[in-house]
Amino acid sequence: MTYQPQEDFGTPASRAEEQVSLTIDGRAVAVPAGTSVMRAAAEQGTSIPKLCATDSLSSFGSCRLCLVEIEGRRGTPASCTTPVEPGMVVHTQTPRLQKLRKGVMELYISDHPLDCLTCAANGDCELQDQAGAVGLRDVRYAADATHLGQAKDHSNPYFDFDPSKCIVCSRCVRACDEVQGTLALTVQSRGFGSKISAGLASDNFLGSECVSCGACVQACPTATLVEKKVVEIGTPERAVVTTCAYCGVGCTFRAEMRGEQLVRMVPWKDGKANRGHSCVKGRFAWGYAQHQERILKPMIRSSISEPWQEVTWEVALSHAASELKRISAKYGKHALGGITSSRCTNEETFLVQKLIRAGFGNNNVDTCARVCHSPTGYGLKTTFGTSAGTQDFDSVEDSDVILVIGANPTDGHPVFASRMKRRLRKGAKLIVIDPRRTDLVRSPHIEADHHLALRPGTNVAVLTAMAHTIVTEGLVDEAFVKERCDWDEYQDWAAFVSLERNSPETLEAITQVQAAELRAAARLYATGGNGAIYYGLGVTEHSQGSSTVMAIANLAMATGNIGRRGVGVNPLRGQNNVQGACDMGSFPHELSGYRHISDGETRRLFESEWGVPLDPEPGLRIPNMLDAATDGVFKAIYIQGEDILQSDPNTHHVAAGLEAMECVIVHDLFLNETANYAHIFLPGSTFLEKNGTFTNAERRIQPVRKVMTPLNGYEDWEVTQLLAQAMGLDWNYSHPSEIMDEIARLTPSFAGVNFERLDKEGSLQWPVNEAAPDGSPIMHIDGFVRGKGKFVVTDYVPTDEKTGPRFPLLLTTGRILSQYNVGAQTRRTENSVWHQEDLLEIHPVDAENRGIKSGDWVRLASRAGETTLRAGVTERVAPGVVYTTLHRPMTQANVVTTDYSDWATNCPEYKVTAVQISPSNGPTEWQEDYAELQRSSRRIETTVEAAE
Ligand code: SF4
Ligand code: SF4
Ligand code: SF4
Ligand code: FES
Repeated sequence: MTYQPQEDFGTPASRAEEQVSLTIDGRAVAVPAGTSVMRAAAEQGTSIPKLCATDSLSSFGSCRLCLVEIEGRRGTPASCTTPVEPGMVVHTQTPRLQKLRKGVMELYISDHPLDCLTCAANGDCELQDQAGAVGLRDVRYAADATHLGQAKDHSNPYFDFDPSKCIVCSRCVRACDEVQGTLALTVQSRGFGSKISAGLASDNFLGSECVSCGACVQACPTATLVEKKVVEIGTPERAVVTTCAYCGVGCTFRAEMRGEQLVRMVPWKDGKANRGHSCVKGRFAWGYAQHQERILKPMIRSSISEPWQEVTWEVALSHAASELKRISAKYGKHALGGITSSRCTNEETFLVQKLIRAGFGNNNVDTCARVCHSPTGYGLKTTFGTSAGTQDFDSVEDSDVILVIGANPTDGHPVFASRMKRRLRKGAKLIVIDPRRTDLVRSPHIEADHHLALRPGTNVAVLTAMAHTIVTEGLVDEAFVKERCDWDEYQDWAAFVSLERNSPETLEAITQVQAAELRAAARLYATGGNGAIYYGLGVTEHSQGSSTVMAIANLAMATGNIGRRGVGVNPLRGQNNVQGACDMGSFPHELSGYRHISDGETRRLFESEWGVPLDPEPGLRIPNMLDAATDGVFKAIYIQGEDILQSDPNTHHVAAGLEAMECVIVHDLFLNETANYAHIFLPGSTFLEKNGTFTNAERRIQPVRKVMTPLNGYEDWEVTQLLAQAMGLDWNYSHPSEIMDEIARLTPSFAGVNFERLDKEGSLQWPVNEAAPDGSPIMHIDGFVRGKGKFVVTDYVPTDEKTGPRFPLLLTTGRILSQYNVGAQTRRTENSVWHQEDLLEIHPVDAENRGIKSGDWVRLASRAGETTLRAGVTERVAPGVVYTTLHRPMTQANVVTTDYSDWATNCPEYKVTAVQISPSNGPTEWQEDYAELQRSSRRIETTVEAAE
């Protein structure tokens, strides 16, 4: 599309059902009750001049530019703050109004630098537009005093603040308060002296509470707050709507371009996942796409100690195909496998698993969801019948009680966190179950009603104790359970949770949560109205991850909190397409749509579409592939878009597995840590360079649209297709839409999905089929997908990972807002300003006992390994618990995590590792060796095409 700003109706839409009829400039209009006169006029095509109003914020009424005349009323009310009334007769354009507006605008302009021609926002400035709209042609007087000489603030890496251009409309302050919920900005002083300030603690944005979400920049009607890229490149000429490739919130953006250059990513107001909001990653952290370390040419080498040799695509792909065929012939087809990526599109993921099943001839395919949300798949499928969350994000607006367990949404899922915080500020209650005092526990205008700071590894005990309270205190919604769930299974479960050994009082010694507090939280969830549960990897990455998911489902069913808006069970997905990767058949036991590979009917469907017989036996999971490699029976792997060396547990074991293979093919943007062990490197493309779809945590399938030509020459799906063709497979897709058509033919929950609909409707939430032609925002409305909801007894079993004299502390891991997972992308952006290294959080008591101060180097050791990093002493963690992030390869926190895993899915137990912390002088020997390995394995010889 050619560039046009998104339409701004001035004030938010009203959700009221009642319609109100009125007349505006002689035309009859009908709008929902509660709509402002300004919006009603805009909806019928009349733009009333405005400056302080924008439709993402509630109206404020400060600029006085939007005055109108209303018959029967005195004066000239502001249209942005005046709601419509039945029979109202409004005039928006009269000589009197024109004169008033011109006068107001003249005052603004008299204190504004008249440098439009050289201003970064020239042509994209509301002040400029509105001056034109009110017919201002000259300014008759010079102001006695102005704000023109004020210093600019360039501190934020992504946007500038030039107070000399500020009209103090406070849109930025309100955006930070209402949309983002950080409350970083204030209007200081009054009258002429009033000015925007980034908090009290600092005089610049970088040093303030600002989290760089960009909401204020988007709201600013002038060039006061402006993206640095707009200053550098110029204003955009065209825009393409696409979807963020970072987290599972799935924000949609307008990628605004000038030529082939991306100028800015502006959150799309029509995006149903983000409703026009963003976080620092999607909004600003896309510089990695052009980073100099990106690999753009294929490379091969005969051993991992050799330097890489750049070769042509043809050479690389035929070498890869012949190696895969050689290994298959020598060791058997089960010696091969592959890993799909939750970062890639549905279409790309589908092709990788198809290549393995139809080309390699086995089911040795797994995905990075193995190490994050595989217990969600198991737990929700078992209890409800579908491996996915039950709600759309809008649902939170109707929640009365929000229970967040094992998730840190303000860092991990920031845009959804902002929506959740908005609901909390309006009065919903909050229960947080987390060993750490996350930001959600207490932030401006928000305080959790209950924070259950449990001992890591005791989720099941806490949830069972809550169930005990609900059952024994008679708080069960029996009518719901009788109608919707298996009553016999419920009774078995109720008898189990009612046992004295499951009471909050008995379990207190294990969970370290006070029984009275836990009981109060359980009562609140059961009786406080619509109760919604949101959870993250703090639930799944445990030895009892699947049990915890089922314990959550039990609570929701027992209290009738399922099947309508405001309630539900909602996994917050980590990666952008983790839901999609699971949907697309990336697990070794399932074809797309979660159908078991052993099911003959499903297999025959795929066999007839693909024209090859399929192996009915489930294949190997990632840890089993690595075990088989060290046992000498697994020899080759194709890894698309995942850095298993950094993201999987027990790094030394992963390295040993990779080192034991004869052919490791890494398909990625950068020479990641896994590529240190690779023999063939295939350059990947970024989300900006490809067409396809991602599916977010709401099951929302959204378009990813190519905004620039792939720098490496191919989209990732094309590379997989070329590899398949080199192996002799007859694949001929000319566009990813054809892959989606195949997915729809083979997958009942995707039956109604195609690119044309997605482009027209923006997104679709699966299932989309005959039974639900418009998709399914809320699931299990009239009944569970599996029929009757299944209560599962979830007995608490302590993890085998025990603290003791050698390793007395418990380590738990997580991520922070500015970085993303292993950091491959975010480390290559300006986001590093906020996070230069992984820090170990340790409680003051534990720190003092060990003579550790903030900033000291410490040794973090477990029975699996050790690493060093710097300490941060903080009360965010309880005594006995330490915490770190895993964004930096030189820390590699997974060196210390063990290979314990979830009993049902092998999801690693990242969240509980017994460790010891001691003072250290700096990096360990392996870190120094590793730095050397990185240096040597990244040697690239660019001049020779030796393999040709
Ligand atoms: S910075 Fe922009 S949005 Fe904020 S008050 Fe000034 S002009 Fe308005
Ligand atoms: S970037 Fe976001 S957090 Fe920072 S001041 Fe603006 S709205 Fe607030
Ligand atoms: S919340 Fe997630 S999807 Fe949205 S902009 Fe941030 S990283 Fe992207
Ligand atoms: S737009 Fe209505 S008062 Fe500013």
